[in-house]
Amino acid sequence: MLIYVKNLMVVRMKKQQLPQMKIKNLSIPVPIIQGGMGIGLSSYSLAGSVAKEGGLGVLSSAGLDRIVSQRHGKKINARDAAAQDVRDAKSISMGGHIGMNIMVAVINQYESSVLGSMDGGVDAIISGAGLPMALPEMALKHPRNEDVALIPIVSSGRAMEIIFKRWKRSGRLPDAVVVEGPLAGGHIAWRSEVEALDPKNKLEILVDEVLEVVKDWGSIPVIAAGGIFTHEDIVNWLDRGCAGVQMGTRFLATHESGANAEYKKMLVEATEDDIELANRPGSPCGMLFRVLKKSPFYLQALARERAPKCDKGYLLNKGFCPSKYENEKTFCICNGLLASINLNNANEKNLYTVGHNAYRVNKIMSVHDLMQELQGLTLPQIALVEQKDSITPLNL
Ligand SMILES: Cc1cc2nc3c(=O)[nH]c(=O)nc-3n(C[C@H](O)[C@H](O)[C@H](O)COP(=O)(O)O)c2cc1C
Repeated sequence: MLIYVKNLMVVRMKKQQLPQMKIKNLSIPVPIIQGGMGIGLSSYSLAGSVAKEGGLGVLSSAGLDRIVSQRHGKKINARDAAAQDVRDAKSISMGGHIGMNIMVAVINQYESSVLGSMDGGVDAIISGAGLPMALPEMALKHPRNEDVALIPIVSSGRAMEIIFKRWKRSGRLPDAVVVEGPLAGGHIAWRSEVEALDPKNKLEILVDEVLEVVKDWGSIPVIAAGGIFTHEDIVNWLDRGCAGVQMGTRFLATHESGANAEYKKMLVEATEDDIELANRPGSPCGMLFRVLKKSPFYLQALARERAPKCDKGYLLNKGFCPSKYENEKTFCICNGLLASINLNNANEKNLYTVGHNAYRVNKIMSVHDLMQELQGLTLPQIALVEQKDSITPLNL
């Protein structure tokens, strides 16, 4: 049947065009950093897909020796594994930019992760979970030093000031800074819940503090992180003077993230009451760690059912990790997180870390759809606009 309809034009309506984000010599088309999520949650497929969509896709160096060895079917050391993970992410990023998140707390592999990422062609190194004091000196040992943006994560103006002063002595200032507030997933900078949730530690206040400190040191992009969820949130942070945002939980809830099926299911089903800051027992890093309280590994830790053990050793500091010796105050996060990406899950239960806003996640989506939504290009924004003076035959 041939019918005639008035010609309709599909117009994708942008809410507000997000500007690109410039960091050192990088032009990142969409000002969104997908935060590093260890262990293996910000997988090469997640980071590569985010980069392909125009954001900065970020890997996590934690546990890469195990993860990359398993993926490539041969034993690979920490430095080569970091390099390989960057290459694997780049192979799907279609020229997009890839960063590596390296936690100061993973002290034994810190330098090998820095140098390995640089071997692999990483564009940016983002480092927190402690103050990355020695990062510029380590990067200086590598011939690609000038090509890689160095980005510390801080949670106060004071920490920012300390980093500026220390890095200045190494002859290099940060190329950008991530300010992470108390609503973030993973570890947060505070040691008690009261302190973390004190209104004086709201992300808005921390960002203002850091913007104030940064003013004295030149024009350094400031990136907000922790609890950012929608396109409107992103616009709000840009309006407040940030160059971009870093987001974790939204990207955890994508098909491409490394989280296993049970993790994603519990994330989608979580209510606000299901999310808490693990403290005693808590992470052996000594920082608050946000978890889904029904995580099987966490329930076991609360009941002190898992005997003290440290057989992965990522958090060993001078040979010591508290959860090797006791299970009253801490629990081993390495084994629980590895189980949650289906590595090591024969004898270990899953441990799920999420951001405060995880209860707002109601579906798992593709990185493409999420990046469209965050840019304000979602389906409800599509309008059918009538084109005047034109009739098109439609063959049904
Ligand atoms: C599952 C998960 C794991 C994380 N792991 C790390 C990590 O290994 N290192 C790190 O610096 N930040 C980590 N983060 C923090 C993120 O990089 C990001 O800054 C944070 O999630 C932003 O808050 P949001 O989750 O509310 O978006 C993690 C966050 C989540 C949700």
